[in-house]
Amino acid sequence: MKKLLLALSIAAACAAPLAHAASGAALYQQNCAACHGAQREGAIGPNLADATWVKVKPNKAALAGFIAAGSLTAGMPSFKAILAPADLASIADYLLTPVSAAPAAAASYPELANFTLPPGFSMTVFADKVNAARSMAVSPSGIVYVGSGAAGKVVALVSSKRDNVIDKVVTVAEGLDTPIGVAWLNGALYVGEVSRVIRFDNIDSTYDKSPKVNVLKVSLPSDKWHGGKVIKAGPDGKLYIPVGAPCNVCNKENEPYSKIHRMNPDGSSLEEYARGIRNTVGFAFHPTTGQLWFTDNGRDMLGDNLPSDKLHVAPKAGMHFGFPYCAGGVVPDPEFAAGRKCAEFEEPVAKLGPHVAALGLAFNTGSQFPAQYKNQLFVAEHGSWNRAQKSGYRVALVTLHENKMVSDTVFIDGFIQNGEVVGRPVDIAFLADGSMLVSDDHRGRIYRVTYKAPPAAKK
Ligand code: HEC
Repeated sequence: MKKLLLALSIAAACAAPLAHAASGAALYQQNCAACHGAQREGAIGPNLADATWVKVKPNKAALAGFIAAGSLTAGMPSFKAILAPADLASIADYLLTPVSAAPAAAASYPELANFTLPPGFSMTVFADKVNAARSMAVSPSGIVYVGSGAAGKVVALVSSKRDNVIDKVVTVAEGLDTPIGVAWLNGALYVGEVSRVIRFDNIDSTYDKSPKVNVLKVSLPSDKWHGGKVIKAGPDGKLYIPVGAPCNVCNKENEPYSKIHRMNPDGSSLEEYARGIRNTVGFAFHPTTGQLWFTDNGRDMLGDNLPSDKLHVAPKAGMHFGFPYCAGGVVPDPEFAAGRKCAEFEEPVAKLGPHVAALGLAFNTGSQFPAQYKNQLFVAEHGSWNRAQKSGYRVALVTLHENKMVSDTVFIDGFIQNGEVVGRPVDIAFLADGSMLVSDDHRGRIYRVTYKAPPAAKK
């Protein structure tokens, strides 16, 4: 009955201005969610989740005034004739309440029960509503910075009590050009956009104060195709950044494309580090050797099973990994081989499978997981987009002995449940306590994987 009354009063609120204020949240769902998203995450209209608005000051009067007037030329309707002043005020109040990224009770995530991990491991939702979550960078003080693709934002996930419970999600910057890459170096956060690299200084103390954007003086191509740029700080103190091939397959070897470059943190001394790489969207440095490991996504249009995505190691500068001459490490490209043989190029350490879309990867250096996982490699497989039977959609564990693969097994399975995609893993990072984070740009979540030894089996 109560529900019915509420529904009726919402309907009435829409039909004509009412004297009393209905709940701001309910009014929002009724009038605004279609354009701004059910969680205020943004859709046709901008994101309204975090009180960092472009058009309006973050106070009640300014907001109510803006909503009443609308922004007609830009597609935001006027609500003056639809909502009473008291309703406008309660929507404003609602918009000024931060959206909690703190996950809801476990019961709200029934799909968690259907993920499978090895015995002793469990997975929880670490942060929710982190729209289009891509790369993660964990600062030494434990703040997790996340770059988003589609949302154009960088956010900071903060656990004020340092108990790995996120109680604050702060937008560090927005309006960025597909900022999928984030890296922490010397107290600063570096962000890879399609068109440029930017830096926020002293990030851990400025993340919630709209920090100044410093643009690095470095010129990289800004093609959209494979233009997203992860960015990582190497053990040599340099920044590593890729430029993907601006095509499915093409030969642009004489240009900056299909390469990993490196540069000084100020953007100077940009140089090619590795070539023959179609599109890498993840790399990591080995904890003991310091060598660069990366994933490379194979070309499309050779059918469902060809070629395989690859895992490579580039222990020194100047190596060639085969693109566009050799596909998947073994098949001369039917259009671009030009007489070159696969044997001329570096062999992949692992062939990860066709179209799995291997993205972020990380070595486990912590000590929470059992010893057999130490310094082993976890790879996020985002999943295929054009394969008849979907592949990927999991987190793989690649075990290594020196630079050779020992095994490639599934570590987290279940991102497809009953034929429905419930998540697409993008990046892996480890927290100081040795637990693992996995970002998911499909549901906008960060998952956390912890380990607790199962009780010894009874005899
Ligand atoms: C038909 C789609 C649509 C609906 C419905 C709509 N908006 Fe908007 N809204 C927009 C668009 C588009 C913009 C961007 C306007 C601009 O750039 O000038 C916008 C902008 C805004 C902004 C400014 C955001 C910023 O970053 O400056 C606020 C606040 C806002 N809307 C609140 C609301 C509220 C509250 C409601 C419901 C009462 C609502 N909107 C309903 C489309 C919509």
